[in-house]
Amino acid sequence: MEKIPNSRIRKLRTWMPGKYPSELIEVGKDNHQISLIDLASNDYLDLTRHPSLIEAAKSALVTEGVGSGGSRFITGNRTIHKKLEQELAEWLNREIVLVYPSGFQANLAAVIALADRHTPIIADRLIHHSLLTGIRASGGKLMRFAHNNLSALETLLKKSKQQQPLKRPLVITESLFSMEGTSAPIKEISILCTKYDSKLLIDEAHAFGIMGSQGRGETFGIKEPISIISGTFGKAFGGGGAFLATDKKFGEHLIQTCGAFRYTTALAPPLCASALAALKLIKSNPNWGLKLQEESIEWRDALSRNGWERPPGHGPIISIILGSDEKAIDYQKKLEDQGLLTVAIRPPTVPEGKSRLRLVVRRTMPKETFKQLIEVLNKK
Ligand SMILES: Cc1ncc(COP(=O)(O)O)c(C=O)c1O
Repeated sequence: MEKIPNSRIRKLRTWMPGKYPSELIEVGKDNHQISLIDLASNDYLDLTRHPSLIEAAKSALVTEGVGSGGSRFITGNRTIHKKLEQELAEWLNREIVLVYPSGFQANLAAVIALADRHTPIIADRLIHHSLLTGIRASGGKLMRFAHNNLSALETLLKKSKQQQPLKRPLVITESLFSMEGTSAPIKEISILCTKYDSKLLIDEAHAFGIMGSQGRGETFGIKEPISIISGTFGKAFGGGGAFLATDKKFGEHLIQTCGAFRYTTALAPPLCASALAALKLIKSNPNWGLKLQEESIEWRDALSRNGWERPPGHGPIISIILGSDEKAIDYQKKLEDQGLLTVAIRPPTVPEGKSRLRLVVRRTMPKETFKQLIEVLNKK
């Protein structure tokens, strides 16, 4: 069994007034604590310890309790669930939003709602494990296309229609890939899905809150043929829990038939409250995502000026592929020694021979961080 090394068991510095926005993480390492700048977490907008989220969660904690105490259909349904679902549906301009306890669960639910054992499923080669788990559970026949490759996708759609003209295939992809930092060509994929009368499921886990118009995701403004969008509150939204956004038909289907929605304890009220507080902040700071993207482009440019292969994509995830596990771990250590927290991502999370450093550009990162990063990386 893979052992979690000590240096990766991290304890967040407790919230200190005046210290926000905080960039520091404390690491328990050989019995002493060191401070590191977080270049690794999914807390893109630095909301996990934002006072507004903490206040909202505290207040819900006091009035509603720690947990919801039941499923949505028994005793767990609260006004705050409805409020969150309605505000998100309005913001994303979708007919129905349903809140789930986690993105993993939401993805599983979405695939099962859209596919059964007769459904041809065509998915990007690099989709998240939760989507693959959903595909396995659905029993549908999986075909995978090369990452973000539109012609490979079209070939599979054509093949599927020739073999089973009466079956509507399901296409699955992510808008911002968590380990690559690449963005899927959502518009073009949606055009192909319309052409081949296909359903489309898009996981916006890493894009939601940052990418697309005012952080509303890459799917914002595209209706047909998107069947379901999934998003999580565990990344840019700084909390936990997730949602599926869809139209009336699929929404009703999920409410009536989805076990992962009906037979699970409803999302804890403090997490609903913090998601609402994050939504309010993101709405009132519509340029946060854009600024993060601009900064991430500057990072990419600087990396390539310094002799590194330009990392693909334009979002806050920057993947530096180093090859061997040893090399990636070596860079992680070098950076950690200089106070920068990065994590070497290795197989099975990424393919063999593609171990990497996954860098994350975060909203409140100190200006000098990037210079420091380049200096360490350049000491090859
Ligand atoms: C692309 C993607 N989808 C879904 C999830 C699951 O989200 P959650 O952490 O809310 O379960 C993750 C989390 O790692 C993810 O990276």
